[in-house]
Amino acid sequence: MSSWAKGYWEKSTAREIAREYDIYSKQHSTYVKTSKKLISLSGISHCQVVIDLGVGTGIATKYLLKHSRQVERVYCVDFSKEMLSIAKRNINDKKAKFVLCKAEEISRHIPEKADGIISNAVFQYVDLDQVLRESNKILSSRGIITFNIWPSWFKEVKQNKRTALFFEIFYRNMNAIAREKGFKSSFDYRFELGSRSVFSAKSVLSSLSKNGFKLLKYQNISIDRSPKEILDFLKLQIIAKHRLPNIPQPTREKILDEAMERTIKKFGNRSVTHKWPYFVAQAKQGIKLANKF
Ligand SMILES: C[S@@+](CC[C@H](N)C(=O)[O-])C[C@H]1O[C@@H](n2cnc3c(N)ncnc32)[C@H](O)[C@@H]1O
Repeated sequence: MSSWAKGYWEKSTAREIAREYDIYSKQHSTYVKTSKKLISLSGISHCQVVIDLGVGTGIATKYLLKHSRQVERVYCVDFSKEMLSIAKRNINDKKAKFVLCKAEEISRHIPEKADGIISNAVFQYVDLDQVLRESNKILSSRGIITFNIWPSWFKEVKQNKRTALFFEIFYRNMNAIAREKGFKSSFDYRFELGSRSVFSAKSVLSSLSKNGFKLLKYQNISIDRSPKEILDFLKLQIIAKHRLPNIPQPTREKILDEAMERTIKKFGNRSVTHKWPYFVAQAKQGIKLANKF
């Protein structure tokens, strides 16, 4: 796991996080859209054995199994027991096998080679080098890995002007309302645009190459989100606690509601777009890895 991500998916609130995430992702379309793109870019529906890294509540695997007859098994990996138990219910398919472990340790927990790995909205949390090393061990030669990274953690994707303005207005309102209520708040809106980013195209490409992968595709794909979807996302406890730390959750929700109301008054209720970086890479045959365990 990357050092900054430690504590993001805390054990103490794991059940609540999983429950909220399941409700949110059934009400709104971002994760369905990003998963569908991932699957179509990867060409993975022709594979027989697939790994879904950071399966969450099961969106991508469910879609894959519904639309591919060739897939025989999907190993659904997550380090959250609570997410896995919701995924089991949502996917409800004998072809899905559930594996409780870190993405950084898959080769110790998956009993066979896979033809393909997919991972939607997870790689910003992992130790990229370690996950790619492990992926190379578990993939058959020429196996494919396809993943994306949440735009906030990615430096080089320039988000459009409307999106930048929306977040600027929203977070200004949020900070002002929190202060009106007596709390300190100084969240920097540029975070949503990648200012505090951990990854760049260069860093990802270098990790891929160092860990035995050849890049096949790198694309930035636009995904729309409505203000209501953004509001519900920001209210998820796992997200809200980073935007408004040291404030009780019910108060955070009030602040976020008011901030969005003021923002919509000024900005209108139209969707904004985020560009997501997607990578498809192939395991090179017989590669000798530079860094041994
Ligand atoms: C944003 S959710 C995405 C879930 C799912 N892929 C989707 O598209 O809905 C991130 C998921 O990755 C899992 N996760 C984060 N870091 C992980 C790691 N290092 N190893 C395994 N799972 C991890 C979390 O528990 C969570 O279920």
